[in-house]
Amino acid sequence: MKTIGVLTSGGDAPGMNAAIRAVVRTAIYNGIKVMGVNQGYDGLINGNIKEMGLSSVADIIHRGGTTLRTARSEEFKTEEGRKKALNVMKVFGIDGLVVIGGDGSFKGAEKLSDEGFPTIGIPGTIDNDLGYSDYTIGFDTAINTVIDAISKIRDTSTSHGRANVIEVMGRHCGDIALYAGLAGGAESVIVPEVGYEVDEVCQKLIKGRNRGKLHSIIMLAEGVGRAYELSDEIEDKTGIETRVTVLGHIQRGGSPTAFDRILASKMGAESVRLLIKGESGKVVGIQGNKIINMNINEALKINNNLDKDMYELTKILSI
Ligand code: F6P
Repeated sequence: MKTIGVLTSGGDAPGMNAAIRAVVRTAIYNGIKVMGVNQGYDGLINGNIKEMGLSSVADIIHRGGTTLRTARSEEFKTEEGRKKALNVMKVFGIDGLVVIGGDGSFKGAEKLSDEGFPTIGIPGTIDNDLGYSDYTIGFDTAINTVIDAISKIRDTSTSHGRANVIEVMGRHCGDIALYAGLAGGAESVIVPEVGYEVDEVCQKLIKGRNRGKLHSIIMLAEGVGRAYELSDEIEDKTGIETRVTVLGHIQRGGSPTAFDRILASKMGAESVRLLIKGESGKVVGIQGNKIINMNINEALKINNNLDKDMYELTKILSI
């Protein structure tokens, strides 16, 4: 292995820069040249590629976003697009690739390795929706951002005696709602893996109100419904004044937490070690506080199951 390419793809996530830094520095430490691919798979197709030196990753470990920029490439999904990318990598002398991204990016990495190109994936997404890994890079920062928002909303919720529906990201996965809901002391956590009955949410609100509770925080994962619709229903059924906050892309930004920086650093280093060992078609992950790797096709088949115990706990602690 003489030259490694590195790219970030799909939705950005805090900690991606720490992963890029770890890939670049581990590779250079081992005498390997690194080419940074800008704008994800699109950059691989268009040759938007530059050599990265030690100082190209200085001063980025604490920055949100991705300095390599990112894209969701439609062209790379086609055989034609991937052929172009493979030719471009030949021209730049790239003989191994590290892809930092979520499941869509991993599908691209899987195709590349199936087509014979050494490729390793690092899970970078705020959604925490990759079942093979306990955590993905960016998730911890995102839930901390959400917790901060919950605390602020709770202040005003209490002052006015209102209910507040907070809609969070996560695509089809309820982890952001669940983890932030538990840590933020939400009264209800609504996730796509379980679904919800609006009457149950309303009963809980009324019970709380009758007990003298002043605020009510309802965490709603985007994959299960829309906050404005739920809020209208709650107001109609309970008469309790209800407000909505859709947190949106604020959840994707910000300086990564220590957890995300450490996770990204370990995973970035491990991805380079795997390429040096001649491995391909693998993804790096974390299980029980240990960095692991697994075949990408196996990893993609593992369903992301909601932590049911944790979900039950949110219910118990919010009676
Ligand atoms: O996958 C990360 C994510 O932030 C999801 O939680 C969300 O549904 C989606 O990306 C939003 O994508 P975009 O930034 O393209 O609007």
